[in-house]
Amino acid sequence: SCSRLVLGIETSCDDTGAAVMDETGAILGESLHSQKEVHLRTGGIIPAVAQQLHRENIDRVVQEALERSGVTPGQLSAVATTVMPGLALSLGIGLEFSRKFVRQHNKPFIPIHHMEAHALTVRMLQPVAFPFLVLLVSGGHSLLAVARGVDDFLLLGYTLDEAPGETLDKVARRLSLIKHPQCSRLSGGQAIELLAKDGDKGRFPFRTPMGQAYDCCFSFAGLRTQITNTIVKKEAEEGVEQGTLLSCANDIAAATQHTVACHLAKRTHRAIVFCMANSLLPSRNPTLVVSGGVASNQYIRKALSIITKMTGLHLVCPPAKFCTDNGVMIAWNGVERLREGKGILPPDVDVRYEPK
Ligand code: KG4
Ligand code: ZN
Repeated sequence: SCSRLVLGIETSCDDTGAAVMDETGAILGESLHSQKEVHLRTGGIIPAVAQQLHRENIDRVVQEALERSGVTPGQLSAVATTVMPGLALSLGIGLEFSRKFVRQHNKPFIPIHHMEAHALTVRMLQPVAFPFLVLLVSGGHSLLAVARGVDDFLLLGYTLDEAPGETLDKVARRLSLIKHPQCSRLSGGQAIELLAKDGDKGRFPFRTPMGQAYDCCFSFAGLRTQITNTIVKKEAEEGVEQGTLLSCANDIAAATQHTVACHLAKRTHRAIVFCMANSLLPSRNPTLVVSGGVASNQYIRKALSIITKMTGLHLVCPPAKFCTDNGVMIAWNGVERLREGKGILPPDVDVRYEPK
């Protein structure tokens, strides 16, 4: 075919991903190496460890994506790679690999902004026209923005401390949910969603964060302190060791999930009202896209759907597979940029260059 082909490479955090995509957004070949199991054992990402794992896997991952696609490096039209934001050591491996690759094969280079790629992935799956509102919530991300174009984003809100998935993971760790028979293979957020089903969210009424701040930013650190204090108090009352509080884990999970949902829903509601007051969204079919690992939480989705229904927005959540980090979302951003001729750089460019 005469369709242009893009190789996408992602190494910004703990996933080494690569994908080959044609101009229509069809995935021709992909490969992903996740470091999640390793980082779960150490209780969090150690940047130098993440870097070493990217280094050990990048050649094979890219090779696999190319082989599965049946595309040779010579047939590519461009290489798109995440250059920011992320862990500097992790990003460096993808950058270094790409710098060599584009010089060796004389291919244009497309630097990709990781968050922009997350925001636009939905367009690979269904037609969502610009501008639209996007909420990104995961273990490392928390933001609200208006996507106005491939390289045009209006940031409305971001987290002042930690991301919601990080909060859920830390609460789950503090409750040692991993020792719970049903939760041994689940992420913190998944464990909390599961336990919350049999919990009473009203037993521990946590305060919704930032009630007095009239903006669209997020904060979860104060909520985590409230939750930790409650756990410490309960452990003392029941005379049990740290991380062995079983009697009210369900109720704490339910209250945690409920409060995170309330905070996300309130900030999103404010963003929608702001967009409407300033005509930032189209009057026909205004859309909220919700993406990121936390977006797979059904309770949180329900809370957001109440807000979108109330304000007349269309709610779109891409399937979980496309909400998480991979080479596919980077290749797609490369395709979108290639189509518009935006941010395509020559092979000999200094790839520390920041996208725009
Ligand atoms: O997007 P993702 O796979 O990776 C990044 O953080 O970039 O998101 C993972 C995060 C973790 O913090 C995990 O606890 C959270 O998303 N998560 C959930 C659920 N599934 C994953 N949080 C709440 N409910 C879920 N069902
Ligand atoms: Zn991400």
